[in-house]
This record gives sequence, structure tokens and C-alpha cells, in this order.
Amino acid sequence: MSFVMEPKELLKLAGKTAIVTGGTRGIGRAIAERLLAEGVRVAICGRLRESIERAVKEMAERHGDAVWGSPADVSRQEDVRSLFAAADARFGGLDILINNAGVGIFRSVAELTPEEWRRTIDLNLTGVFYCSREALQRFRTRGGGYIINISSLAGKNPFAGGAAYNASKFGLNGFSEAMMLDHRYDNVRVSYVMPGSVDTDFGTRSGADWKIQPDDVAEVVACLLRMPERTLVSRVEIRPAKPKK
Ligand SMILES: NC(=O)c1ccc[n+]([C@@H]2O[C@H](COP(=O)([O-])OP(=O)(O)OC[C@H]3O[C@@H](n4cnc5c(N)ncnc54)[C@H](OP(=O)(O)O)[C@@H]3O)[C@@H](O)[C@H]2O)c1
Repeated sequence: MSFVMEPKELLKLAGKTAIVTGGTRGIGRAIAERLLAEGVRVAICGRLRESIERAVKEMAERHGDAVWGSPADVSRQEDVRSLFAAADARFGGLDILINNAGVGIFRSVAELTPEEWRRTIDLNLTGVFYCSREALQRFRTRGGGYIINISSLAGKNPFAGGAAYNASKFGLNGFSEAMMLDHRYDNVRVSYVMPGSVDTDFGTRSGADWKIQPDDVAEVVACLLRMPERTLVSRVEIRPAKPKK
């Protein structure tokens, strides 16, 4: 018996198809790039057409027509339906959904407006439901699939000013685990990833060398997807090894 995992046991991702929400920059962009490098065909979305066109053009220089994108606000069900239908037409099926698009609005409860509350919950939680629902319908005909939700350590650690964001990510963790239990016997694997501070435009981009880099999160996502089908790493916490004191 070997105690070293043989590379042949890891799944090959080449030829699979993925949707990465919020794939124009930050963590989503790094995940899209990583999957393309594995030979996955990747559809990305974001709200801004210009950002989509720029991101697709840059990635296509390395990966040709394996990358495609369309503007979609994933907090709007109509946009989600159109995105998935257009991705079907482009790639002819779906194997992987990465629910990455998210927003952080950091204010005390007294200062938070109802509009800011709704924007956070509608994107970070309801948008994940809309996208997952579309994906699960497609996985049924495909015989299975994989959903990875990008949560946050804010999904387990409340902090002052984080009420809306904390609520959305705590909720996302619960949603992810329940969805995993609902669909594990349909050959659907569900994981959620909880990064700490990542060096993106999400907060104030600092370029601080202690922060997690988007590529590091993308590497974790690739590892999850390549795990043998018998095994599900359902929850991952990722933190800076040496956060600023
Ligand atoms: N950065 C961190 O420190 C950190 C830590 C833990 C977890 N996370 C989580 O990681 C995920 C990605 O964060 P990030 O730091 O990479 O953010 P980011 O740099 O701000 O990028 C967000 C991406 O989502 C898109 N997006 C925003 N609103 C959208 C909407 N309504 N519909 C569709 N796409 C939308 C953006 O494009 P448009 O603006 O063009 O729509 C962009 O592509 C989020 O879920 C966040 O909560 C981040």
C-alpha cells in the first residue's frame, strides 16, 4: 500500500466547463486563469461590459476561445438565467460553478441603509442561490458537477461594522452545507472556501506582502476540484500565515 497519493488518482480538469461569477478581477479572475491553465473552458461574468471585454481579451491571448464572458448582475434572476443559457449555447454544458461575486459594505447597523443591506444579501446570498439552482438543473442531465462558494472568515468571525457582510457569509456557509447534504448522492460536490484578507480591490488594495494573494485562493480551488470523487473537502479556511500585528 502506498502512502503517497498517485497523481493518476487526481482528477483531470481538461475538457470541463466552468462558470466563474465575478471573474473580471480579484479572486474570480485568478480562479478563471487557473482553470483555463488546467484546460477548462471558462465563462465569466461581472456587471460591466467594458471590464468583461477587457478581461476576456487578456485571457484569450493565452487561452484562445476557451474563455468567454457576458455582463450579468447575479443578484438579478433574469440576468442569471440569460448568463447560463448563453454559456450553454457557447460551451454546451456545465461541470463546475464557482460562486465568487460578492460585495462588502462595512458600517454599523445604525448607519447601514436598507438598500446597502439588500445589496449585500441579494448578491452574496440570493445570487448564490440563483446560480446554484441553474447549475444543479444542468448537473442533473450531466450526471453530476461541482459547486465552490467563495465565503470568508467573516462567515465565522463577526466584527464591528460587519453586520451585513457577516450575515451574508454566515448564511452562505449554512446554505453551502445544506446544499451539499441535499445533492451529494446526485454526484454533486459542494465546498466553501473561507479566505481571510486577500490582496484585491475588495477592501483597500494595499499590496501588503502579508496578505493572501488571489492566486493562492485559486490554487486551493484547483486542489478541491482535482480531489478523487470519493472525497469531499467541504470547508476550507485560508488565512495569512503571518498577518500584520
Ligand atoms: N478580498 C478579500 O479580502 C476577501 C476575503 C474573503 C472573501 N472574499 C470574497 O471573495 C469574493 C471575491 O472578492 P474579491 O476581493 O476578488 O472582489 P473584487 O476584487 O471586488 O471583485 C469582485 C468581482 O465581482 C464582480 N461583481 C461585483 N458585483 C457583482 C454582481 N452584482 N454581479 C456579478 N458580478 C459582480 C466584479 O465585477 P463588476 O464590478 O464589474 O460587477 C468583480 O469581477 C467575494 O465573494 C468576497 O466576499 C474576499
